[in-house]
Order: sequence, then C-alpha cells, then structure tokens
Amino acid sequence: MMIIRNKYNIFHYKFVIGFIINLRIIISHDIMNMVINMIQDHMDELIEILNRASYEYHTLDKPTITDQEYDSYLRELIKLEEKYPEFKRLDSPTVRVGGEVIDGFNKVVHEVPMLSLSNVFNESEIIAFDERVKKEIPNPKYVCELKIDGLSVSLLYKNGKLVRGATRGDGITGEDITHNVKTIKNIPLSLSEPLDIEIRGEIYMSKDSFLSLNEERKRNGMDLFANPRNAAAGSVRQLDSKIAASRNLSSFLYHLPNAEQYGVNSHYKALELMKKLGFTVNPNIKKVEGIKELLSFIEKWTQNRETLPYEIDGIVIKLDDLNAQKKLGYTAKYPRWATAYKFPAMEVYTKLRDIKFSVGRTGQVTPNAILEPVILAGSTISKTTLHNEEYVMLRDIRIGDIVSIKKAGDVIPEVVGVLEERRTGKEIPFEMIKNCPICGSSLTKKETEAAYYCKNPHCDAKKIEGLIHYASRDAMNIEGFGDSIVEDFYNMGYLKNISDYYTLYQFKEELMELEGFGNKSIQNLLDSIEESKSNSLERLLFALGIRHVGKKTGKILADYFKTMDRLEKATYEELVEVHDIGEIIAESIVNYFAEPQNKELIQSLRTIGVNMSYIEKKISENAEFLGKTFVLTGTLVAIKREEAKEKIELLGGKTSSTVSPKTDVVVVGDNPGSKFSKAKELGILIWNEQDFLEKIKNK
Ligand code: IVH
Repeated sequence: MMIIRNKYNIFHYKFVIGFIINLRIIISHDIMNMVINMIQDHMDELIEILNRASYEYHTLDKPTITDQEYDSYLRELIKLEEKYPEFKRLDSPTVRVGGEVIDGFNKVVHEVPMLSLSNVFNESEIIAFDERVKKEIPNPKYVCELKIDGLSVSLLYKNGKLVRGATRGDGITGEDITHNVKTIKNIPLSLSEPLDIEIRGEIYMSKDSFLSLNEERKRNGMDLFANPRNAAAGSVRQLDSKIAASRNLSSFLYHLPNAEQYGVNSHYKALELMKKLGFTVNPNIKKVEGIKELLSFIEKWTQNRETLPYEIDGIVIKLDDLNAQKKLGYTAKYPRWATAYKFPAMEVYTKLRDIKFSVGRTGQVTPNAILEPVILAGSTISKTTLHNEEYVMLRDIRIGDIVSIKKAGDVIPEVVGVLEERRTGKEIPFEMIKNCPICGSSLTKKETEAAYYCKNPHCDAKKIEGLIHYASRDAMNIEGFGDSIVEDFYNMGYLKNISDYYTLYQFKEELMELEGFGNKSIQNLLDSIEESKSNSLERLLFALGIRHVGKKTGKILADYFKTMDRLEKATYEELVEVHDIGEIIAESIVNYFAEPQNKELIQSLRTIGVNMSYIEKKISENAEFLGKTFVLTGTLVAIKREEAKEKIELLGGKTSSTVSPKTDVVVVGDNPGSKFSKAKELGILIWNEQDFLEKIKNK
C-alpha cells in the first residue's frame, strides 16, 4: 500500500494513525493489524524517499528536497525504528552512508570507512549530546570547527607523495579523483615528512569563484550551478582534469584517521600536525570546555557565517582526546564522539536594485525583484518574483530598499519585508506600469484578480513564452528548445507561430550556418520535432497553452473526448459534465476554440501530421511483471531507462530506485553499481539486459 506522496500527506497519514491508536481500546484486533501494516508501509515509504533523496544528493548532485526535509524524514524513521525494531530494514538509510559510485572513475575501497556525522539542530539536542558523552567521559574537552559545505575527500600519501585522492562515495567505496585533486592548489603534492598517511577533509569552492563561474556559464548559455557545493562536486567529477583545474577549488583538511600512529594523542594536535605537514586547516577552530563555551562558539558563527568567503552549513563538535574518542566508538554510520550542529533555514538581507516586469504566455504581467546577488540556503538569488502590484504595495517595497528574503516552503525565494530602518530617503516607491513592457499595449485587470494582463495577441513576449511552453518537457517534449534558442529563432524570424516548428526543416542549411550550431545539433532538433508529431493528444492540449488547461486537465480531456475533433465540437454543457472539469475551465476551452486563429492553428497542425488522438496506454498484464517490483541498475544499451520503466509499468509491474528484500527482480546493465551486489547479497532474481529484452519482446 503506497499512500504517502509528499510531506503533507505524511502529516495527514500520521494524524490518522495517531487517531486510530488513541482509539485502540475500543477497536478490534483486525483494525490494530491494519494499523501495524500501515506503519510498516509508512516506514517503507520513508526509506524510499530518503534513499532517493540521498542518491540525488550524493550521486547526481541534484537534490530535490531540502536538508531540513531530509533530516525530518530521517528523524521520523529513526523514531519508528526504535519503536518497531522488527520492521527495521537492512537497507535503511539509518545504517548506511548515502551515495553511490558513478561510472567512469576507478573505484577505491577506503581502508577505514569514511563515516558521516550525526546531526543536532538546537540547544537542547546539543546539551543531550554533551550529556551522553559525559556518561562515559567526565569533563569532556571538545574541538569546535566550522562545517564546510563542500564534498569530503580522502588523500593518500606514500612516502610523503600524494598517490591518491578519492571521494567518499558510499563510505566504503569511493571514486578515484587523483587527477583532479592534484589540480587543487592548496593540496600538497608532497609532504614535509616522508610519511605513509591518509588525511581527510573537504573540497569546496569559494563564494566568489562560484559567482564568477556562474556568470561565465550564463554568458555561454550553459546551465548554472545551484550552489558552491554542487559546483565543487561537479568539478571534481570531471574526467578531464583541465576543467577542475580551471574551477579554482580549494580545501580544508580536518581529519586524520589512526592519528595515534603519528604520535599525537588529541584531535587538536592532529590538526597541528596536519598544518605542519603542509595542509590547510581552517583557522576558525576552538578548543572548548563545558557547554557554555560550546554554545557561544555556535552563537558566534551563526551570527558571522555570512562574513566568511566560503559557505558553511553548521558547526562540528569533536571530542578532543583520542582515547576518549576510542572509548565512545562508532555506530554503523557515525562516530559517537562527534556531531554536527546544522544551521536552521536562512533568511538573508540584500539590496533591491530594481523592479522589472515580465510577460508570461497568458499575458500576465509580473513585477520581479532584481537583487544584489546573495546566497540563501545554498543557492544564489539575484531575481525573484514579487507576484503582483498588491503584494508589493502591502509590503511597501521600494527600489533601493534593503529587503529580507526567505525561501517559502524552502523552494521559491520570497521578498518577505523591508528593513525600514536602513532607508536613506533615496528609495523609489513602486508604481505599477500601465502598458505592456514588450509591446506597449495597455494592460487590463479583472476586478476579481490581482494580476494585470497584456491582451495583445501579437505581443512578442507572449508568443515567445507560448513557443517555449509548447516545446517544454511536459508539453510536446521537443528536446533542445530552451528559452534562449526559442527567443533567438523568434527574433530571426524562423519561429513565429507554433506551426513554424514543423517547417523549420526547410531552413536546415541556413540554420546550420548559425554560430554555435552544426549539422548534428540542427538534425537533433529536427528529429525531436518530427518525433513530437506522434505524441498523444493530452500533450498537445497542454502544449497549446489554453488557459486553465494544465497537464492534468489535458489528460482528463484527452481521455474523455479521445480526439481533438470531438473536443473542438464540445459545448459548454458537455464540458461541465466531465468529471473534474469546472465552469471556468469549460468556459476557457469554449473560448479557445471559438477564436478563428486557434482553429486555424489546429487545422495546420493537423495537415502537418501532428497526432490529434489520445493514445491509450493499456496495461497488458503479464505474470512475470504483474505486481512485481523492479530495480534497474547500470547502463542499458538497447533501451532507454525511461522506456524500460514505462514498459514494466505497462506490463503491470512497478519500479523502485532501491534494492530491498521487497524487490522481485533487478535488471542489470553495463557497469552496475552497488545495487547489483546488494541484489546478489539478498538473493534477488537478476536479469541482464538481454533477459529483459526477451521478456518484453512482442508484449
Ligand atoms: S569530521 C569521522 N569535520 O560534513 C569524522 N566533517 O555531515 C568525519 N564536514 O562527511 C567528518 N566540515 O564531508 C568533519 N570540520 C569538519 C567538516 C566535516 C564539513 C562534512 C564532511 C562530512 C559531513 C558530515
């Protein structure tokens, strides 16, 4: 039973469980069993979410949930596992350090596992950590350090020479990144003493290097890195060391495994030895005694973190005495002698340089805050929406103000207010524009809505946005047509209307001559356009940009009416009869098809050969797939991963990203990772790509 889809549902779910448990006195044994099953399912689902998030964060460097969300899911799971140890799974992220080894680099087995740190989030948790330590070690002394937000690295020296640099990977096996590590200027290639030694620390990118790297990428039309950590991780994961060398990476070293072997008896002395050997150790380190000193170090850096030239995401607290460390030892995942205090989600202040207006494909005109770039919770913010006139007026936001920015729901940064005490008198009050910033036609506003609209159907901005939307992934999925290429093609006259996508091939020779394009890239664009002709109707409906027809509504309409022809002819009354289609949507659809230019567009798409029917995906149940859970690992050669997943689902199976005792089949491609070993360990049925292709053949 898969019920939970997001954290809001989880909350809802927990509420239901809590409610039923409270009623347990009066409910029957069967219901209790049902509740227990629900709890187990809930734990499974948490593991799915955490493992997926961990893979996205550690392996792909593309996190989709915030650290705070991850931590709260993890805590919930820890609590449930404590309460229901019988449901604890072997692959629970509570016993495994996240991250997988990616292909392309040699694998490195760490002699001493590279462990992560447990986390604490507030004063009482810090005190609880100290109390736990005190049970074993009276009057403990700690070393407090900054928690550098980069990626951890292990450096191996033989006879004083750097022989290997490796990432943490999954903690047991990492990737060999020696060629890139050698390009980092403050990592010594040889030490001041001819030692055999392993040193660990963090590779990071400074805030300045990160900002200029992104500026350069923007100039070159490349994707921007979300934050310095991702930029650093992306840089060391390059096969070509020239790239890493150009990225201005740096390092701080903070851990010496087996330090006693080198004649030191405390962590602090180990850090001093590391400095002596030639490593850069962060200077903001303090030996503290007692909780008061510890808390004041944390307080100091919570206040001052913005002044540092690099990002930190917390404070690391380590027991200083190595014998004391030994006494406390390790859990499967963490040392018991250390912990990391994580900073709370952040609010930052910056200057509002300007307010600029943009026009969306519906014609809605939005004011945007143009900000002096700041880093907020790990990402650079230089622009954010101000929603509408009312939003700005309510907060009295003026150009030149110092504004406070928070991440709403930890996703979209919001200007939440103004520091009035920082005003100089030169700030310019906001004024809503009266005309479209692109075409100049006057804007209109409905009584009931806060937004202003440009109603000019020929407005360039609306057209460009509409063209971008048409090609976007959830719409017609025409690969390669991002914002800037559509805008360029529009300005050059190749793309004026949606139907022009399908006549672009006539200009192939000309397009190939454009700077930055060649035969191959243009051919890829044209192939992708051609492929889009056979999309099912729901994609086209969404792509057309009919007001209020989103992805879901597109699907409902396609499923109900089956063809464009029938939908075009549907009356308002017929439309409101359809489940989930309300009056506003119905009206919008009728209005859309009443417009002669829209009719014309659809007719020309039809003539061009764009599919106008719903292609139903029927589940053809198959005993080898039905109800079974599949995990795909490694590179599949003959079939795209997405296609393979789709096929499994069409045959009645489901896919998961993690191997667990619940997995039925693991499909193994080239260079499989740890999932393959895990599957063997758990005795799960394994198919190679050929087996898989055989099973799906003719189905
Ligand atoms: S000590 C066994 N010290 O934080 C001790 N880690 O969340 C290992 N980190 O994996 C780590 N600054 O990548 C330590 N001063 C510091 C650190 C630090 C950043 C990272 C490190 C670790 C992660 C744990």
